[in-house]
Amino acid sequence: MHLSERPSFAPSDRLTAVVTGSTGGIGSALCDELARLGWSLVLVNRSQSKALEQKSTLLTNHPDLSITLVQADLMDLADIRRACRELLDRVSKIDALYCIAGVLTSQRRLSADGHESHYAVNVLANYVIIQELAALMVSEQGQPPSMVVTMSSSAINRGNLDIENLSDPPKIGGLMGAYAQSKLALTAMCAETAQDLRSHGVLIRAIDPGPTKASGCQRYCVGLRNSCSQTLKARLRELQEPPIPTNSTGKAAFL
Ligand SMILES: NC(=O)c1ccc[n+]([C@@H]2O[C@H](COP(=O)([O-])OP(=O)(O)OC[C@H]3O[C@@H](n4cnc5c(N)ncnc54)[C@H](OP(=O)(O)O)[C@@H]3O)[C@@H](O)[C@H]2O)c1
Repeated sequence: MHLSERPSFAPSDRLTAVVTGSTGGIGSALCDELARLGWSLVLVNRSQSKALEQKSTLLTNHPDLSITLVQADLMDLADIRRACRELLDRVSKIDALYCIAGVLTSQRRLSADGHESHYAVNVLANYVIIQELAALMVSEQGQPPSMVVTMSSSAINRGNLDIENLSDPPKIGGLMGAYAQSKLALTAMCAETAQDLRSHGVLIRAIDPGPTKASGCQRYCVGLRNSCSQTLKARLRELQEPPIPTNSTGKAAFL
């Protein structure tokens, strides 16, 4: 659907946020905050059981909350498009789209479409979701803009984009391999689409949340520690307990 084809629905009082990867560390913290502020939530997740558990916890704490669950495997382009169609049917407007879901792994996994998992989830999925849902985010002149937020990383500062090998990079493991490449591509994609989105009243930001005490970072740090020598293991022990303060924490990688 093109941006100019935004369907017309009756306006709703509550602000609505779509959050992908809402069951993860950063996603769930974000949802807790949005729920506290009274936003309606549309949660896009691969695991229905984790999503149901999150919904139940959120409703226990905020009984008036409106929560819509949409299931999608972001490794699968056809499933992403199906989920977006479902979302377009069930939601009338989106005030904020938080693309939080992400992959950081040392395993090489190809999607059914032939893309390595970092590129498939961290880049392609976000691009398709933003394009498919943008029509629900258009805001008229004089109205507050709607917002797309994607999760970049400080890893983008350590290398150049290797476009030739983007969808199947030679180096998978570590922060500086496929992960950094995917976050570089994601940030570039946000910069590239910013102008078009802005002309429709949509702002896009690629944010570096910094090393965060969330499950993704936690898993990576423990994996890193287990795969190295005893001496290094001792020095890396503190990495088991992020957050690790850095200068990039909380900075927006692209504005
Ligand atoms: N944590 C940090 O310090 C840090 C630093 C910089 C950037 N980031 C970025 O911030 C984002 C969130 O990080 P986090 O630490 O909160 O990660 P996390 O706890 O590992 O959560 C990742 C989320 O993405 C979902 N996801 C992964 N693959 C998916 C797929 N194929 N389909 C649908 N959902 C999928 C996971 O769902 P399942 O539960 O089903 O796996 C989970 O909900 C990521 O994009 C990450 O790269 C994090």
